[in-house]
Amino acid sequence: MGAPLPPEPLAAVSRLPRYVPGTTANLPDGRPGYKLSSNESPFPLPEPIVQAMSRACADASRYPTSGRALAERLAGRHGLEPQEVAVAGGSLELLRDLLLAYTGPGASVVYGWRSYEAYPILAGSCGARTVPVPLREESIDLQALADAVAPDTRMVLLADPNNPTGTALDFKEVEAFARRLPDSCLLVLDQAYCEFGDPESASRALRLRSELPNLVVTRTFSKAFALAGMRVGWCAAHPQVVEALERVALPFTLTAPAEAGALAALDLEAELNRRVQTVISEREELTAGLRRLGLTVPPSRANFVWLPLGARSQEFAAACSDSGVSVRCFAGEGVRVTVGLAEENRAVLEAAASFVRGGAPR
Ligand SMILES: Cc1ncc(COP(=O)(O)O)c(C=O)c1O
Repeated sequence: MGAPLPPEPLAAVSRLPRYVPGTTANLPDGRPGYKLSSNESPFPLPEPIVQAMSRACADASRYPTSGRALAERLAGRHGLEPQEVAVAGGSLELLRDLLLAYTGPGASVVYGWRSYEAYPILAGSCGARTVPVPLREESIDLQALADAVAPDTRMVLLADPNNPTGTALDFKEVEAFARRLPDSCLLVLDQAYCEFGDPESASRALRLRSELPNLVVTRTFSKAFALAGMRVGWCAAHPQVVEALERVALPFTLTAPAEAGALAALDLEAELNRRVQTVISEREELTAGLRRLGLTVPPSRANFVWLPLGARSQEFAAACSDSGVSVRCFAGEGVRVTVGLAEENRAVLEAAASFVRGGAPR
């Protein structure tokens, strides 16, 4: 008789795809290579942020407070009421809590596909029916999304700029889409990368939020604010939505060091924004370099670029890995490459050149 087994998980859980974190690669000489697989900030953290977090660690024997200091600061920064802001341990957590609070068995969740790979996992784990809607020319197809909204649709997840394609939508079209959605359906506008795109569209989204009770705008400290490892996210939503989020939220996931880091990052917003501008100009150079090699790269408004290489995606990822660059490969579809510092981007261009030449000797 074999070893006793634990109970089976729910059938829906067994069918869920797994979230695959970004990998690392080594340089040919064995030293650690360039991690361009997780859309992280390529810069070292500014010292004042590190110090603020270290100071908060001294109190780590206590549970954290509710995160209201950060929520109030964000409300003031963006012209919102404090009760319109929810904070959490990453925007992923807010997405999960929104899905928990508003969807479930009997509800459907619509999103463009391919988009952020966590969407089907989070929606599926809440028991909702997932409705992926194919992209058109690497962009979210708003008309097709609108057509996919059914009487049971309780949520549309819209990443703008989209991950992994980097493409951004015209805000006027997003607004028209939002206004046409039924009141019974939440539109979650996931702006994880908005700082790398058009700042005007990003703030218009927050203004539209105060007009539309079913619009939620999610943001993160993981990208432009460089705090991916600390897990801080926030959203702007109608106070009743914030209240629902507070009911389902796991307490204490926003730790005191994370909150202190986020507050310190807001103090340094101008400096962090200069870094964002560097990433944007590196992105444009990387895009131009890849296009000069004859590769297709849709215009990105995020901190990564997308190469829709189809059947050759794994080959490109292998060429990068051989040069010590880890990228995110979606086999059969394309490869997402995070924009790094100049040296990292040069390594990507060298790997891309060897891929185009037909592969460097392994
Ligand atoms: C579109 C999108 N939304 C949300 C997230 C999650 O961000 P966070 O680190 O705040 O959980 C990511 C992370 O890569 C993302 O790409």
